[in-house]
Amino acid sequence: MNKPTLEETFTRIFRSGWWGSEESVSGRGSELATTVAIRENLGAWLARNPRVQTLFDAPCGDFNWMRLVDFPAGVRYIGGDIVADLIDKNNETYGNDLRRFVHLDATSDAFPQADAWFCRDMMIHLPLPLCLSAIANCRRAGMTYILATTFINADNQRDIAPGHYRQVNLAKAPFDLGPPIEMLPDPAENNQTDRFIGVWRLD
Ligand SMILES: C[S@@+](CC[C@H](N)C(=O)[O-])C[C@H]1O[C@@H](n2cnc3c(N)ncnc32)[C@H](O)[C@@H]1O
Repeated sequence: MNKPTLEETFTRIFRSGWWGSEESVSGRGSELATTVAIRENLGAWLARNPRVQTLFDAPCGDFNWMRLVDFPAGVRYIGGDIVADLIDKNNETYGNDLRRFVHLDATSDAFPQADAWFCRDMMIHLPLPLCLSAIANCRRAGMTYILATTFINADNQRDIAPGHYRQVNLAKAPFDLGPPIEMLPDPAENNQTDRFIGVWRLD
C-alpha cells in the first residue's frame, strides 16, 4: 500500500474524530474552555499591533475558538488548512467580507499575502523537515511576524511521523528562531505552564 499523503493523513484524522473532542474536531486543546487565555491574549496582541491588518491563521482547523477572538475593526482574517472539508464548511459558516478560508498545505503551498502567520498546534504534529519548510514558506511570503506554538522546555530531539505528537521549541535548533519578542501564554488542556504562542519578528 502507498504511504498516505499529508492531506490524506489529516483528512483521515478529521473524518474519524481521532483527536477525541465532542466540541471541536481539532481536539480538546481547541475547545472553548481550553482556549480562554489564548483568545484573550491574541485579541490583545492584535490591538497592540495595528500594523497587522491581515492575519493568516494556518492551520485554522474548524475555527471553533478563533471565531470568538475580538479582532480590531477592519482587520482581515484568512484561515488555511490542509483538510478541504473543513475549509468548505468554514467558508459556508463563517466566511464574510473580512474573513475567508483557503485550502492549502502550509509546508508546500504559497502563503496568501498577510502581515502575520498564526500557527497553533501544527508543528507539534509534523516531522521536523516539514516544519522547516512551513517556516521557509512564511519567510518567502514576506510576513512581518510568526506567532506559533512553542514549548520552552522541549529539546527537539525526537521526531515523529505526520499526525503524531511531540513538543517543539522554536527558539532552538533546528528551528533557530531565537528568543521570541513576546510569549503569549496558551496553557490549553492540562494547564501546561511551559506552552506558549511565541511571537517572532521576521524583518
Ligand atoms: C490540532 S489542529 C489545530 C487547529 C487550530 N490551529 C486550533 O488551534 O484549533 C491541527 C490542524 O492542522 C492541520 N494541518 C496539518 N498539517 C497541515 C499542513 N501541512 N497545512 C495546513 N494544515 C495542516 C490539520 O488538518 C488540523 O486541522
